Amino acid sequence: MRALVYEAPYRVRVREKPDPAIEHPDDVVLRVTRAAICGSDLHLFHGLVPDTRVGTTFGHEFTGVVEETGPGVRSLRRGDRVVVPFNVSCGTCFYCRRGVTADCESSNPSNELACGVYGYSHTTGGYDGGQAEYVRVPFADFGPMKIPDDLEDDDVLLLSDVLPTGYQGAEMGGIQEGDTVAVFGCGAVGLAAARSAWLLGAGRVVAIDRVEARLRMAERWAGAETVDLRTEGDPVAALKDRTRGRGPDVCIDAVGLEASGSAFQTLVGRKLKLAAGSAIALSWAIHAVRKDGTVSIVGVYGPPANLVPIGVAMNKGLTLRMAQASVKRYMPHLLELVRAGRLDPRGLVTHRMPLEHAPKAYALFDRKEDGCVKCVLLPHG
Ligand SMILES: NC(=O)c1ccc[n+]([C@@H]2O[C@H](COP(=O)([O-])OP(=O)(O)OC[C@H]3O[C@@H](n4cnc5c(N)ncnc54)[C@H](O)[C@@H]3O)[C@@H](O)[C@H]2O)c1
Ligand SMILES: [Zn+2]
Ligand SMILES: [Zn+2]
Repeated sequence: MRALVYEAPYRVRVREKPDPAIEHPDDVVLRVTRAAICGSDLHLFHGLVPDTRVGTTFGHEFTGVVEETGPGVRSLRRGDRVVVPFNVSCGTCFYCRRGVTADCESSNPSNELACGVYGYSHTTGGYDGGQAEYVRVPFADFGPMKIPDDLEDDDVLLLSDVLPTGYQGAEMGGIQEGDTVAVFGCGAVGLAAARSAWLLGAGRVVAIDRVEARLRMAERWAGAETVDLRTEGDPVAALKDRTRGRGPDVCIDAVGLEASGSAFQTLVGRKLKLAAGSAIALSWAIHAVRKDGTVSIVGVYGPPANLVPIGVAMNKGLTLRMAQASVKRYMPHLLELVRAGRLDPRGLVTHRMPLEHAPKAYALFDRKEDGCVKCVLLPHG
């Protein structure tokens, strides 16, 4: 089959690779119909995630058609259309039974921190991803959700990751009716968090970024006010100014370890790698949020040391919530919101390309050029 493979930092290629096969009775193999590129793929693309091996196929946001089923699979048949959560989860372990599928103990048992994730590094199990013609999906009776006949793949593709992640980000904010919610980062995750904040009762939503097209999309798609980092300078002061000096009730970090905006954090965390990336967006969130407020983190951070102002958070009495999203838990609810027209995932997709053009898509998305927010690859045309 044709598949995107990682070769080196800033270098991916599409080449021939053996077709995936059933390796376990509970597996299915999908013919991939759509595979999106995520901000999390950029951390891999930049070579920032340990144990990202040459030849790995990225891609954890995909839909597909069941091509082959293992002998143990009961709920899926050849020809079924499915959308797959980015977490590989078993459905039966301690955490999966509690709905915390992002902490599944079975899909990456040698790692205490992370469950299996499709198309990520070997620290998350080494599962090949969906930016390919075919992909193997383990625990197939639990993870994949059948796509209802009245919906198209494009309607549900982003239920694999960014909609649930943004929604969980807003939910972890514990938003009360009328709250002011600030969202750092206007990528697909931040935009989904901003839109979800309204759905959860926010009275005001402010989105922060420095990329023109994304700020406009925050206004248009998510109905947010915006703080433009290119012109407003200090976002903490800008947010305080807009909230009578007190700060937003809730701040959501939808940026993560590659945040720009602090020479010091960039030097220590991204260049010298003495900390696991730059935590400047999170730092701003902690400084900006009002006392007794909540900071919700869905931007990804590496596990070793991070420069986070924990003393500020402690003295302000903040609630900090954070997680890799437990995608499966949110799929049914978000599917209904999509169906009801209250969430429009198609509106986030700015680019569509054949799989063969994936290297170009990565470059475009990485540089945030041409208004690129979400790029969808089409492995079968
Ligand atoms: N927790 C989860 O389960 C989960 C799931 C998906 C993605 N993520 C993470 O969420 C983050 C966002 O993903 P995405 O796909 O939207 O990425 P993206 O790269 O498309 O968007 C990130 C945005 O942050 C902006 N930004 C950079 N520095 C900033 C700063 N200091 N303040 C405000 N904005 C800043 C960039 O301009 C960019 O628009 C990534 O870290 C990704 O790994 C987490
Ligand atoms: Zn993702
Ligand atoms: Zn599990």
